[in-house]
Amino acid sequence: MTRAAITTTGLRKEYQYGPHTIKAVDGIDLSVGEGEFFGLLGPNGAGKSTTIGMLTTRIRPTGGSASVAGIDVLARPVEVRRRVAVVTQRNTMDRQISVAENLEFRGRYFGMGRREARRRAMELLTEFDIADKAGASLDEVSGGQARRAMICRAIMHRPDVLVLDEPSAGVDPQTRLHLWDLLRRLHADGQTVLLTTHHLDEAESLCQRIAVIDHGRVVAAGGIDEIKSAAGAESVTTVVFTGDAGPAAETASKIGYVTRVEVEGSRMRVHATQTTGLIGELAAAGADQGLSIQDVSTLRPSLETAFLNLTGREYRQ
Ligand SMILES: Nc1ncnc2c1ncn2[C@@H]1O[C@H](COP(=O)(O)OP(=O)(O)OP(=O)(O)O)[C@@H](O)[C@H]1O
Ligand SMILES: [Mg+2]
Repeated sequence: MTRAAITTTGLRKEYQYGPHTIKAVDGIDLSVGEGEFFGLLGPNGAGKSTTIGMLTTRIRPTGGSASVAGIDVLARPVEVRRRVAVVTQRNTMDRQISVAENLEFRGRYFGMGRREARRRAMELLTEFDIADKAGASLDEVSGGQARRAMICRAIMHRPDVLVLDEPSAGVDPQTRLHLWDLLRRLHADGQTVLLTTHHLDEAESLCQRIAVIDHGRVVAAGGIDEIKSAAGAESVTTVVFTGDAGPAAETASKIGYVTRVEVEGSRMRVHATQTTGLIGELAAAGADQGLSIQDVSTLRPSLETAFLNLTGREYRQ
């Protein structure tokens, strides 16, 4: 069995505002293995940043416990900081000095000699395709380049765990794919990665296991494939009719390959094991009731449909 890189037990963070208690993280149990690529998914305000803030010792838990590389974050924060590095949502690079100097200072801070720090900085900047910006200031690099530079800086001292808070937020689609490639390469070289994201597709394409959190709690967790197969390989077709979908739904639920039908007013959500011919059948079922279709969309079997099946609701971005 692989050793745990990250463990949390009943991890909790509450903020007190006068009489109000905000449960930012409300009892989270996580276990990330060494060498794993793990995703923490959830909508805005779910508690992702707070969770990783506690794992990286920047936020003090108000309950439960957490450890990184077997070291307790509350009891031995200084040691934890040697083992874990974080790339935060905001750009935290020093604008007064060059990109390479940002990296070198980090290396020096963690005890590297000047020459070693310089060598490692150039090696990483080359690996991340930004060697040409080594001497540039932060004002002279693009958002995507700054993000890459921050990752390089984070891994300067070879941390056991790399934590990325929404690494692809605000970067264009092409840069995003490039970033994904770089992260996959890092992981293939043995780096344990914990990433937070809003996006199911990002988790699906990078992570081996995920935990979906909402309102500070884990609502679904497991291996990507496991979650998908547990939820069944179903497509979900949503049809909006010109009137109440109830009677048409009864007809729809009798279609052989339809596994589940849900109705909300004029909206009908149809889970099915095939999609060929389905929309035609639904249109006919509606027409029998004097309804026509206003809007239709289909989600193919994916993490998104799995999430819907597991939690009974749409993944809120
Ligand atoms: N310092 C703080 N004081 C009070 N409340 C806070 C503080 N930090 C976070 N919160 C609240 O805790 C909850 C979780 O916030 P958090 O930043 O962890 O969410 P998140 O999942 O990272 O969201 P996002 O996707 O927007 O980054 C939110 O309701 C937020 O308003
Ligand atoms: Mg956040």
